[in-house]
Amino acid sequence: MTQTIQLCEQIKLCEQRDFEETNCLRVPNPNNKKKSILIIKKDNALYAYENSCPHFSIPLDYKKGKFHTYKNEVVMCAHHSAMFNITTGECIDGPCMGHSLTSIAIQIVDGEVFLIN
Ligand code: FES
Repeated sequence: MTQTIQLCEQIKLCEQRDFEETNCLRVPNPNNKKKSILIIKKDNALYAYENSCPHFSIPLDYKKGKFHTYKNEVVMCAHHSAMFNITTGECIDGPCMGHSLTSIAIQIVDGEVFLIN
């Protein structure tokens, strides 16, 4: 019997210590040079999403790498104030309510954060 083992490619995005002074980080998307990834820390866990608002498909940050968060529960789009639950990516208020940020699979190994392809 032959067993197929699928190996996942891991690409380093950042390090956990990058979140010592911020809870949001914008990193390049290795799979799409025109897009970026938003990584958010909440309660010692990291959540990663495409940095693209489902309303107009533009980045959520108001300045490159600067994001509005509220009570570390939601991240807000800088353009028309859509609010997204940090842990689920779901828009809970605003013009794209019911839609969600696109989740990105990450893995943390020895303090390094990897994109899982
Ligand atoms: S582009 Fe994000 S709410 Fe409109």
